[in-house]
Amino acid sequence: MKNLTQISQLNRFQIESLIELALKIKKEPEKYSNKLQRKIIALLFFEASTRTRLSFEAAVNRLGGKTIGFSQPGSSSYGKKGESLTDTIRVVNQYSDLIVMRHPKSGAAKLAKKVSKVPIINGGDGANEHPTQTLLDLMTIYQIRKKIDNLKIAMVGDLKFGRTVRSLSKALTNFQNVEITYVSCKDLAMKDDIKEAVKKAGLKFKQTQDLKQAFQKADIVYMTRIQSDRFKDKKKARKYQGQFVVDNLLLKNAKKDLKILHPLPRNDEIAQEVDDTAYAFYFEQAGNGMYMRMALLLKIFDL
Ligand code: CP
Repeated sequence: MKNLTQISQLNRFQIESLIELALKIKKEPEKYSNKLQRKIIALLFFEASTRTRLSFEAAVNRLGGKTIGFSQPGSSSYGKKGESLTDTIRVVNQYSDLIVMRHPKSGAAKLAKKVSKVPIINGGDGANEHPTQTLLDLMTIYQIRKKIDNLKIAMVGDLKFGRTVRSLSKALTNFQNVEITYVSCKDLAMKDDIKEAVKKAGLKFKQTQDLKQAFQKADIVYMTRIQSDRFKDKKKARKYQGQFVVDNLLLKNAKKDLKILHPLPRNDEIAQEVDDTAYAFYFEQAGNGMYMRMALLLKIFDL
């Protein structure tokens, strides 16, 4: 593996071996502290991020490497002087051994890969994909359940603009007998390309607005926020806020060992009272991001 721009580049074996390595690193991180010595990783964030950028930065630091980059396009010549994305990538190639990039446009990572001589990792491109989030999501599911096959997974919220649920659905097509329940309002339903891929892989899925029933049946619930930043009309986004909210009352009928995941940031879709229950696993999930990104960097550099 030399790049990661979309999750479909990885098969089940590759995903499982990344999970295995990430869990090993989590157990004994100090064993890997010199692996990236003399490597410079460019973090080019053309769109806001807390977790993806900082966990990559922490991952590189923990592996003994160094980072360069920017966290907002406004501080780059791309943002201020009209430089193209492809020229930016060609130039950053001169300074770095690998580029992690987040960009608001779908397909930007693929375009960057076309011109780049160093590996490109997609840290999220528009409403398209977020493959490294999916890897940490699968690592977290595996950590909780010791398996990914045969699970009932509900994905809730903005399934139309949420890139994490698209990548996660695609990745689940590598596994057996996973049942997916998509919970959203009609306007924000999962797009057809993903539903077709899920169906083609022989997985069962259903679409519903019945959050209570989805919670009763699920082994894992994957909550997402309304992606208001992707709406042209911000007022319209507010209309969808608060439609699917998890609180302790809803959890009364959930399976006792249910775990709730969320890629974060959260808005109002998980009540804060849930944080103190055994169902909440989203902060540990965010922590896993650093270990999974350490594992991914090691695999890409074949270290
Ligand atoms: N989950 C995630 O991608 O978070 P950030 O947008 O903060 O990176």
